[in-house]
Amino acid sequence: MARDRCRIVVLISGNGSNLQAIIDAIAAQQIAAEVVAVISNKADAYGLQRAQTVGIATRVVSNTDYQAREKYDLALMACIDEFNPDLIVLAGFMRILSNGFVEHYRGRLINIHPSLLPRHKGLHTHRRVLEAGDREHGATVHFVTPELDSGPVILQGKTPIHPADTEQGLAQRVHEIEHQIYPQAIKWFAAGHLSLAGHTVLFDQQPIKPEQQLYSGR
Ligand code: GAR
Repeated sequence: MARDRCRIVVLISGNGSNLQAIIDAIAAQQIAAEVVAVISNKADAYGLQRAQTVGIATRVVSNTDYQAREKYDLALMACIDEFNPDLIVLAGFMRILSNGFVEHYRGRLINIHPSLLPRHKGLHTHRRVLEAGDREHGATVHFVTPELDSGPVILQGKTPIHPADTEQGLAQRVHEIEHQIYPQAIKWFAAGHLSLAGHTVLFDQQPIKPEQQLYSGR
């Protein structure tokens, strides 16, 4: 990392509980980074209020103002680049991104997804996990590449599934996991440990090991 403190732009569409976890970890000095802006495609996203409460700049780039995905993504890129970020963090940003956008930020664009990828890409993951009879569930932080929810895995957190589990209960447990693994992955990035080589995540210039990719409460 060229700078002392990694400059982060967070993209959201809604509640922003992951954003809050990142803000809290930075405030607790667990991560040497600064959230320089929070950008939402929805004006009523609660996460915008979370950012404003702690004095972080916010912007709304509304997708309803643009018909073509590429045009919207260009406007979003212009907005992001004004803040000169080192890292772009998707935290519940519920839009499919164009290849141009993804390539522009390759190696510095990360996402969190509520499943153990490559299982259950897309939406309604908690319901689908129960329907499939899976024995475990969790969340994944990954670098973003053009194919949806298919980028190389940085870190995963797991939880066993119990017979009495409900979609709501699982959603809550997975959120708790997300609030641990996203700050951890961002901490690694901000400290200069992480990079992307082709489709491989490097940790200190070496391919990341499976045991490093499984969160165990560090
Ligand atoms: C999180 O569960 C995140 O994994 C999910 O949206 C939620 C946002 O919650 N993201 C996706 O499904 C992306 N495909 P939050 O707004 O409370 O952070």
